[in-house]
Amino acid sequence: MTIADELQATIEQMVQPGKGILAADESHLTIAKRFAAIKVESTEENRRVYRALLFTTPGIEDYISGVIQFEETLDQTSDDDILLPEVLARRGIVPGIKVDKGKGPLALSPGDLITYGLDGLAERLQHCKSQGARFAKWRDVYQISGHNPTSLAISANAEMLARYSAVCQELGIVPIVEPEVLIDGDHSLARCAEVIEAVQKEIFHALHRHHVVLEHIILKPSMVLPGKDHSVRASPEEIAVATLRVFRRTVPAAVPGINFLSGGLSPEQATANLNAMNVGDAPWLLSFSYGRALQQPVLQAWQGKAENVGAAQQALLKRARLNGAAQRGEYQESMENTA
Ligand code: 13P
Repeated sequence: MTIADELQATIEQMVQPGKGILAADESHLTIAKRFAAIKVESTEENRRVYRALLFTTPGIEDYISGVIQFEETLDQTSDDDILLPEVLARRGIVPGIKVDKGKGPLALSPGDLITYGLDGLAERLQHCKSQGARFAKWRDVYQISGHNPTSLAISANAEMLARYSAVCQELGIVPIVEPEVLIDGDHSLARCAEVIEAVQKEIFHALHRHHVVLEHIILKPSMVLPGKDHSVRASPEEIAVATLRVFRRTVPAAVPGINFLSGGLSPEQATANLNAMNVGDAPWLLSFSYGRALQQPVLQAWQGKAENVGAAQQALLKRARLNGAAQRGEYQESMENTA
């Protein structure tokens, strides 16, 4: 199989109607925060137990086509001693890996952030591939303020994402391109639209410069939303209209799939917004790649207790099913009341 065939096969398995991606790639710091909220200590064993719970949930393969994992997970096993990436692969779910090394301040550019992780990337990717990963994820983060992100932050981050994507594709790994524009702040929906338009325009320019094949990437963007402290809320329909307007201007139709992040929305909001986007026609498959919006109810049900594993898995299956319906534009709020 050529590299291009390999990339195409992965895309076809990941981008399917009614299916999306589970983001389970929280760094040690982030998973410790999520566990602290339910008074569970973040030990290696607890992280293994929790991720095994997620990956062995009966029925999720009907709605989940890929899972993004953190490096540690690739070496961990289920209770019956099967490597976790293998657990996913056997169910037809594509195993993936987060490969960026997190973010920090962009020097000499107050309020801007930059993502780390290009050094040694090819070697790390090759190792992850030998452990079963067929796609990767890199997240750029943009904070909105009166003057951020600056044009410097927008071009520097786009360059990093494009270089990462090129390295992935050269090795036969599908890159998830994730520009996250944070929901924090009191900015309006219009300001968010302006930022996402500038960010995505620059990213696709950089991807082109670096010879990245657009048919073999998945975009994982933020929705166009008012900041969480803004005085006016927006309905799912308003969010869908604003998001699709920006995306039609900036994302070439060659991109097969757009899988949104949930970025701090509640599980119900994330599902309703995705559904509103899928009511009309779009040139790309619009789906989900949710972390918190899929996992919050699971953590709440689990509470770190073995006797709650069944209920926690039911909670995951429910959100996966409702988001699968939202991908098809078939979700209704009344479905929240069914198990
Ligand atoms: P959220 O859906 O919780 O934003 O997480 C998605 C993700 O992978 C962020 O990088």
